[in-house]
Amino acid sequence: MAYTLLAALGVVVAVALYRTIAGLRKNIAKARKTGLVYIVTPVSPISLAWQLTFWIWVPLIKLLPKSQWERWLFVMLPEWGYSTGQKHFEMLGSETFLVASPTTLQLYTQSAEVIHTMTQRREIFPKDVAKYTVLDMFGSNVLTTEGALWRMHRKITSASFNEKNAAHTFAEAISQTRGMLDMWFGPEGEKTGRTGPIRTLEHDTMTWALNIIGYVGFGLRLLWPGQSLPKDIDPRLAKYGSLKPPAGHTLTFADSVALTLERIVSIMILPESILRILPFKFAREAYKGKINYLQYMDEFLRDKADETLAGAPPSEGMDIMGHLVQSSYTPTTTTLPSQKKSTPTHPKLTDSEIIGNAFIMIVAGHETTANTLHFTLLELANNPAAQRRLQRDIDALLGTSDPSTWDYERLVSPLLASHVGACVNETLRLMPPVTGIPKVVTPEQDQVITIDGKTHVLPAGLACTLVAVCAQRNPRWWPTRPSERTGKADDLDEFLPERWYRVRKDAEEEKEEVGEDYGGFQGSDVSAALYRPVRGSYIPFSDGPRSCLGRRIAMVEMGAVLAVIFQGYSIELDVGEWAGEKEVEGMGAEERREVYRKAQEKSRAVIREADSILTLKLHGGRHVPVRFVKRGGERFVSDPMLS
Ligand code: HEM
Ligand SMILES: *[C@@H]1O[C@H](CO)[C@@H](O)[C@H](O)[C@H]1NC(C)=O
Repeated sequence: MAYTLLAALGVVVAVALYRTIAGLRKNIAKARKTGLVYIVTPVSPISLAWQLTFWIWVPLIKLLPKSQWERWLFVMLPEWGYSTGQKHFEMLGSETFLVASPTTLQLYTQSAEVIHTMTQRREIFPKDVAKYTVLDMFGSNVLTTEGALWRMHRKITSASFNEKNAAHTFAEAISQTRGMLDMWFGPEGEKTGRTGPIRTLEHDTMTWALNIIGYVGFGLRLLWPGQSLPKDIDPRLAKYGSLKPPAGHTLTFADSVALTLERIVSIMILPESILRILPFKFAREAYKGKINYLQYMDEFLRDKADETLAGAPPSEGMDIMGHLVQSSYTPTTTTLPSQKKSTPTHPKLTDSEIIGNAFIMIVAGHETTANTLHFTLLELANNPAAQRRLQRDIDALLGTSDPSTWDYERLVSPLLASHVGACVNETLRLMPPVTGIPKVVTPEQDQVITIDGKTHVLPAGLACTLVAVCAQRNPRWWPTRPSERTGKADDLDEFLPERWYRVRKDAEEEKEEVGEDYGGFQGSDVSAALYRPVRGSYIPFSDGPRSCLGRRIAMVEMGAVLAVIFQGYSIELDVGEWAGEKEVEGMGAEERREVYRKAQEKSRAVIREADSILTLKLHGGRHVPVRFVKRGGERFVSDPMLS
């Protein structure tokens, strides 16, 4: 008996081993055929089992001599591109390389040339939608589909993205920024002109972004603590803004979105029935978030469908849900919701696709923009010189005018062409919320691409990652100077908004210009002076036909929020870890600089620990405490010696 069992086990192990080796040999052979640099890994870096348990294996692997793992282990770590990207591309001596494992073959590239080709040619390098199952679970949608189905989704959803709605977004972003500032300052801060240490910047910027997309995208009034809903609000919409869970729900709408996003991986991996009974906090949160969120969305869809069937036109603003519903529930026929699938005259969205698209608009329109604001604020606190320059531009454009009077049409272009736009661009260069963009070689046939004048054949079905976060720091494609702060050969790891005014005629010439003085942005004749990145070297919103639908909206929100905040206030790192309030008051200029430099160093170290779950951000409670002060009341950042 024992022998039989042992023999059976032996066979299983032998078969598994054979399969592993055969798979690996096949993938290595394919990699070799491309003529590109490749590395070999013992398991697939993208396997779920590895991603959930890598933290156990990595320290064990590192016990082996370095020569055994130095060349490949990096690619097995989450977010290696953000933390140590250039180093590995340099070590491999190539901007594009392959990773062969027993089960997968993957291409990674930070080459602007390859990225440009892959983003422009959607037919032969479609989106690798298999990488987006996590965003597909509430229904297929514009972000997670390809081919004819994607075209239909894109056609219906893009109707909401126009300049009229961008103007609407501008006004709402101004108003939500006021709400956020009021909450930060409170009555006490209003008196002293200074907030206490804020440790919730990540959470607050998420609220800010959700409140904006909630209102302009869906007509939902969401609130800041202390605010109340307008008296005349439609009672069906009031429940979404409620700061306490409304009848029939166990979470507020905002919390249901927040928990669903935070626990998205658990929600995807574990079925509802399991989440419900698991005795862990994460499972309870995942379950509660998902159930509440879906219930809100379902009720919202029913209300919109009733409205549409009653013949109501879409409401004000983007009315994303309204457009989705209109495309499906047409009031001119007498079709009931339950029958609508039986008589399709033109492509229509199913209920699940409507909910899926609504979800994607909330996710895409929320977390990405929130992170961009979060990191821009932190970088401005870290870089006082950049902050002072931002304020000079804002003052020149807006003076002391009241933000509620700002005119979108007159202001949006100059704002985005000023240091405001340069700061947003620079944050998106260093901290793109989407760090890698997944493409795939069409499964029908192999494809030829040209890299630096040489052709390479990529095998059909090859999964490719455009490593945005590395391409955007790649010295080959960006004009650089030696770093003044760290002495490094290039300054691409630094937040330097003024790089967006460096002149570029073409990629070759700019290398010659290193070290020269480029001058800077003066006054309003900016557009000629703005830096234009080489195509493919800057892709925070991706590029080509699959690029971000919300790019304009996001830029407009960022323009509004930075203008409102920095017209009236400055941001400073909180130095509480090194010196108390009283101590700081008594400090001379040099002492203040010293303590602020400690805070800068710490803040930069925390930012380096960002990683991606859905998007690149500070996870696991990591944060940088900051304070806002009314302009004129700065204790650190107004010091011209502090940069
Ligand atoms: C700073 C903010 C934002 C960034 C960095 C960003 C980035 C991106 C990126 C990189 C993609 C392509 C993903 C891929 O190909 O795998 C994308 C797609 C998309 N984004 Fe954004 N996004 C932002 C804000 C928004 C906003 C505000 C909305 C909507 C309100 C939005 C809606 C979408 C949609 C619908 C797609 C899918 C487009 C398609 O596949 O046809 N995004 N975004
Ligand atoms: C920001 O980047 C975009 C995209 O490359 C560019 O068109 C724009 O001019 C940049 N803005 C500034 C202020 O440099």
